[in-house]
Parts: sequence; C-alpha cells; structure tokens
Amino acid sequence: MRFIFVMDPVERVIVDEDTTYALMREAEARGHRVEHALHTDLFVEAGVLHAYVRKAHCTDRRERPIELGERERVEVEAVDAVFVRKDPPFDDGYLWLTLLLEHVRGKTLLLNDPQGLRNANEKLYAMRFPEVTPRTLVSADKAEILRFLREVGGKAVIKPIDGHGGEGVMKLEEGHMNQNAIVEALTRHGTRHAMVQAFIPEVSLGDKRILLLDGEPLGAILRVPQKGDLRSNIHVGGRVEKTTLDEHDRRIVAAVADTLRREGLIFVGLDVIGGKLTEVNVTSPTGIQQMTRLDGVNYPGRVIDWVEAKLAGRA
Ligand SMILES: Nc1ncnc2c1ncn2[C@@H]1O[C@H](COP(=O)(O)OP(=O)(O)O)[C@@H](O)[C@H]1O
Ligand SMILES: [Mg+2]
Repeated sequence: MRFIFVMDPVERVIVDEDTTYALMREAEARGHRVEHALHTDLFVEAGVLHAYVRKAHCTDRRERPIELGERERVEVEAVDAVFVRKDPPFDDGYLWLTLLLEHVRGKTLLLNDPQGLRNANEKLYAMRFPEVTPRTLVSADKAEILRFLREVGGKAVIKPIDGHGGEGVMKLEEGHMNQNAIVEALTRHGTRHAMVQAFIPEVSLGDKRILLLDGEPLGAILRVPQKGDLRSNIHVGGRVEKTTLDEHDRRIVAAVADTLRREGLIFVGLDVIGGKLTEVNVTSPTGIQQMTRLDGVNYPGRVIDWVEAKLAGRA
C-alpha cells in the first residue's frame, strides 16, 4: 500500500518520542510505501489534488531518523491513505490543508477526516460533553472570568484556546496579585477568548492520555507534572508512567466515541485529569511510543492493522 504522511519537516522528528515516526516505521516495516509531504507540497489544479512527495525511509538514527528520496509528483487519489499529522497550531495553513484534502474525500482514506479536523478545536471540542468535563467557561470578558473563578471556589486554570504542549496554561487564584494581569494577558485585553476551567487538584497525580482508534481505547499513559509545575505535558518535563483505564475513563470514552466516529476522527488522544475530560487531541495526538515501551505492546502495529483492514473493506 501507499501512504502519504502530511507532517512537519523531518528535521523536527524525535526518534524515540514521535508517534508519527512510530507509525511510519511500522508501515515501512510491513513493506508499504511511505511518503512524506509538507502541507505546502499539496496543490489542486482543475479540481484534482496533487502532492509533491518524497519516499521516506526510517533509519532509527537519532541524528537523522528519516531519510527522504527524490521529489515526485503524485495524484493523491492514487494513494491508499493520507495520515494528516501536522502539529498544531491550527492556523491558516492548517485550515487550507483540510480544504485541499476535501478533493479526495471518498477516494483515499483520510486520517483524520479533514472536515472533522476543521470542526474540532482541541479545547472547545471537550465542551460538547459537559457530563464528563470539569466546569468550564470560554469567554473574553474579564468580569465574567472572575465571576466564574469565584463560583468554582477561587481556583481555576486558564488556557489559550489555540494552545498546545502546555503553552500559556496558568493557574488562577482568587485574590492573587497576578489575577488581573493573567486574565488580561490570556484574553489580550478582552479581544480574544480564553478557556477557564475549575482547578482539578488530582492533576498532581497526573494527566492521563488515552489514545482512541475508531472510538475504541488503544491504550493509555499517565503524564505526571514535575515538581513546581501545573502542566503534565511531556514537552515541559512531565514524567510518563504506566496506567490502565478505570470506570471514569470508560464513561468518557462511551460519551465521545460515537461523535468522534461520525466525524471521521479515527486516531484521537483524550486528556483526562481526575476522571474528567479536559481535551480532545485530533491534529497529531502523541504518546504511542511511551505506551508501547511501558506496556510491551506493538500499538503502532494495531493502528496499521486497522488501516489495512479498512482498506481491505473489513473495518
Ligand atoms: N482543569 C485543570 N485543572 C488542573 N490542571 C489542569 C487543568 N487543565 C489543564 N491542566 C494542566 O495543564 C496541562 C495542559 O493543559 P491542556 O488543557 O491539556 O492543554 P495543552 O493543549 O497545552 O496540553 C495539563 O496537562 C494539566 O497538567
Ligand atoms: Mg494536553
């Protein structure tokens, strides 16, 4: 089979961390043709989507995990699947990428579905399931935010709607001298929305990442914040631990699975803190390598199995 991975430049790949790398490596090991493209390598002419791709070879070498071949021009509908794995932020370039991919809808398997990606802001998406999320407000208004802070007991977390990797996530405490300045910074003086969420004290025990494949749990890891930080993200020093799904997690998965499936959001990362859903990661969810090491299970193999079965008309 032939797969295109639309992703960031290969120089950014971290050999023992990146989920995209693990998927490419598994696909290549099974004899599939794996190709790399940047979002800017896609183009449409007369309604036909093309891409400049380069054949990718996974080397496992830290300095150069992926070697790329010569640039080739392909019609995307001739390819079996496109893995959309560009990292956030979801900016203009991301939006246009999803619109270009519409040209191969129904012709090529798209992971994740471009329309699903457009509809699903990673932070706002979770708010569709208030029965499993912490109390959350999205507002650009300082008075509203401070009112909410008081109502949830004086402790909250404020985050940028388009943030990722823990960037800009801060704790708000009623009566704290920085409270006004933090709200002003995050809302850029009332000109941008921010998300404010009741503070979940169990965050010190970790933020669980549950990877879902077509609405079913693939596996999970726990990310524990380092001392003196609220944020559990691996990129800001969060430590990774083995974990399993509990009854809260199963309830969350049951609440979101049908919606995700309906929207073509096949490979998704849920973030769960203290049994509450805080984020639904759809653009390029990660964690599969850590999960594979901790559980001794070939999770990338399960993802590629699913893709193969889907293309063979079995999934
Ligand atoms: N409501 C909350 N209560 C306590 N800690 C939180 C809350 N929301 C987020 N955090 C902490 O901040 C980190 C980043 O927040 P998250 O919403 O996942 O945004 P990002 O997209 O930046 O990962 C989480 O991993 C967690 O450690
Ligand atoms: Mg997160």
